[in-house]
Amino acid sequence: MSYHLNTFPNAEAAAKACAARIAEIMTESVVARGVARCALSGGSSPKMMFGELAKHKMDWDKILLYWVDERVVPPDHPDSNYKMAMENLILPAGIPILHLSRIAGERYPEEASAHYISEIRAEFKLKEGELPVFDLIHRGMGPDAHTASLFPGEPLIEDDYEIAANTYVEKFNSHRVTLLPGVLKKARHTVILAPGADKAEALKHVLEDKANIMKYPCQIAAKPPYPTEWFVDEASAALLSNKR
Ligand code: 6PG
Repeated sequence: MSYHLNTFPNAEAAAKACAARIAEIMTESVVARGVARCALSGGSSPKMMFGELAKHKMDWDKILLYWVDERVVPPDHPDSNYKMAMENLILPAGIPILHLSRIAGERYPEEASAHYISEIRAEFKLKEGELPVFDLIHRGMGPDAHTASLFPGEPLIEDDYEIAANTYVEKFNSHRVTLLPGVLKKARHTVILAPGADKAEALKHVLEDKANIMKYPCQIAAKPPYPTEWFVDEASAALLSNKR
């Protein structure tokens, strides 16, 4: 896995730097292609980063937002990744609602996934069997090295062909819709924000163990020349033998 590791003193500094890099990638994509299609993750780490990103002066009229994954809950539910993004980024930045391709968590899992796939197919004008190329995919990593809603042992980790799917995460008793590895591997830019001591063991395995995406799903990455850029803090980098 070829990657750039950016290590910061604390989570706040990592979030700020990650937001600045995402703003830069979005702007570069708009300049290069007239539009930036970006998929965002949820959870708690992105909250601070989204708040920082909202402060950047961006051409939001040319930026389309998607989700890497979503819990199958209504958009006003406390667990909704959409709700978290709305509160921390979309409303503060004044991003037009029409530029959001929300995963319809209020629907049945299969319907939510099918609807999201058809929306992506239409937006990216995909032929049958074609996968979308996002300009940016922002991901997180769980303490178990999961990313998106691809948890260790999840059979979907071997699906490089479909765009998205619904899955059930036993340990959280949570139905999810998630982008699949084939899409994650095609991103022009991947940014992974993973601060916090609880991520230290997973980060060491992901970056220093041999490739085993079934065990460490966050090893899923685009191939060069499409870079994976990590934004971590000293706490999550603590166990790395090479903290470059
Ligand atoms: C989700 C996320 C998930 C997240 C990791 C890390 O829906 O929970 O998309 O993949 O990125 O669980 O979450 P934290 O950053 O909150 O630790």
